[in-house]
Amino acid sequence: MLSERMQRALNEQINRELFSSYIYLAMATHFEEKSLDGFAQWMYGQSQEEYGHAMRILRHVLERGGHVELGAIEAPPAEFGSPLEIFRQALDHERKITGHIHDIYRLAVEERDYAAQSLMEWFVNEQVEEEDTVGRIVDQLDLAGDDRAAILLLDKELGQRPQGGESAPSAP
Ligand SMILES: [Fe+2]
Ligand SMILES: [Fe+2]
Repeated sequence: MLSERMQRALNEQINRELFSSYIYLAMATHFEEKSLDGFAQWMYGQSQEEYGHAMRILRHVLERGGHVELGAIEAPPAEFGSPLEIFRQALDHERKITGHIHDIYRLAVEERDYAAQSLMEWFVNEQVEEEDTVGRIVDQLDLAGDDRAAILLLDKELGQRPQGGESAPSAP
């Protein structure tokens, strides 16, 4: 059985994952409007993945006889900057999410809730991968600077991400 505290923490995390999905969806449509189709594609995939994260936690709550409470999802930003600024924003966002995941993991340890620990362990590892992937894209965009050809090449490369799948851009 889930504790009240753990149930609340997991419900809050479901909301954060859905908000993540929403932010990446907004970034995807922004990129598509700018005809940066590869970045758009990558962000659509990312958005789907975040929805999958929300569902993973939602399933856990239900399977443990808990109650899912879906709250309002905050609106994503309406305007975005350059590709570099957008990916930096994504990295900042992922770092914040990592902090929340760690808090829930700590709570699971304190409560000796082994099932929640196991769930959160998956998320701890996922966040390492996410920060690495997004950090790499930030580095590459930073290197590209104002070189439009380099940005278009990166756009093309990121467009090869399989939909909803997990992939990192190839190492430099
Ligand atoms: Fe996530
Ligand atoms: Fe994420």
